[in-house]
Amino acid sequence: MIATEVTSTPTQQSLAALLTEARERTIALIAPLGDELLNRVYSELLSPLAWDLGHIANFEELWLVQTVGGRAPLHGELGRYYDAIENPRRERGALPILHDAELRAYMAEVRERTLEVLDEADVSADAEDRLLREGFVYEMLIAHELQHQETMLQLLQLLDAPYRPAVADPTAFEPAPVAGDAGTIRVDAGAYAIGAPERGFAYDNERPRHTVELAAFEIDRTPVTNATYMEYMGETGAEPPMYWERTDGGWERSAMGVRTPVDPMRPVVHVSWEEADAFARWAGRRLPTEFEWEAAAPRLEGTGGAWEWTSSEFRQYRGFAAFPYEEYSMVFFGDTYKVLRGSSWATHPHVARPSFRNWDLPQRRQIFAGLRLAGDAS
Ligand code: AVJ
Ligand code: FE
Repeated sequence: MIATEVTSTPTQQSLAALLTEARERTIALIAPLGDELLNRVYSELLSPLAWDLGHIANFEELWLVQTVGGRAPLHGELGRYYDAIENPRRERGALPILHDAELRAYMAEVRERTLEVLDEADVSADAEDRLLREGFVYEMLIAHELQHQETMLQLLQLLDAPYRPAVADPTAFEPAPVAGDAGTIRVDAGAYAIGAPERGFAYDNERPRHTVELAAFEIDRTPVTNATYMEYMGETGAEPPMYWERTDGGWERSAMGVRTPVDPMRPVVHVSWEEADAFARWAGRRLPTEFEWEAAAPRLEGTGGAWEWTSSEFRQYRGFAAFPYEEYSMVFFGDTYKVLRGSSWATHPHVARPSFRNWDLPQRRQIFAGLRLAGDAS
């Protein structure tokens, strides 16, 4: 069952508390790592952690200090190196970004200013500025930091020495086990409300809420498990998911410098959309559309373990308006990216909701994504 959060209007105090909580989690994630590991380039697909950290702080400075507070940036033109669109991930290791003590000082200085500005900000429901109304821009920055924590966890998968954070047991860094076959549910044809309600924080791509007509369909209550994926590999010779290694008796997964046997009961992760789609066809089924997924969400289980690929391309809803900036989602709309729904073990619950739309390229496997099977209902 995917929880629907009851949203109350945020206050300066609640926003400050969430900003602090998010930052404490960021710091806890990197606490076990030395500066050398923060600066290391592990993959063309992912930024060095130092870039994510500087980007989190710079994005915060841009919105919560410069835009809201009208203050000048601390480091002049530095922001251009933290612009995600201008600087593709494979190039970020070579940028003149902040490192080590300078980076930590920048994060702390920005945060100090953010809290000063927040102290004076009107974040009430009738604030004149839409950016501030109900704390929108603060919620956006909190979500941004939490989302980057998931990106950082994708990179931490690549560590070659065991990652031992104070926050959790590294072997828990995978989806929780689910019942192997919890059955298939039927969803009746009808008009379903899709998207985020008008009130409460959501990204522009989740709005406006609108009605979608769906034909009857069926969808599995639980996501595809490693057991079924291994069966598929055995029968078809398909590649294993990313991070799997063959052993004498079966398969191990290596993540965060730790190797553990693949647990058959856990949802499969680290498969691409292409692999997910091929698997679904082998199973005689198909991926759900993102609207089917959202309509069925209250009745699904196992979500919160792994993102789920859908058959949908990342497109704007009718009546979409970019807010507050075009580079969050608008520049990605079209037929290039596939939508993922749900959330993963690495997603902070504060940013998980049934209307949330994630997206990635169909060949990508480094994100924590698996799939759930659906089909037309007879
Ligand atoms: C929603 C995960 C696709 O990482 O590209 C972070 C989130 N946007 N900073 C991404 C995001 C700007 C975004 N995804
Ligand atoms: Fe970002």
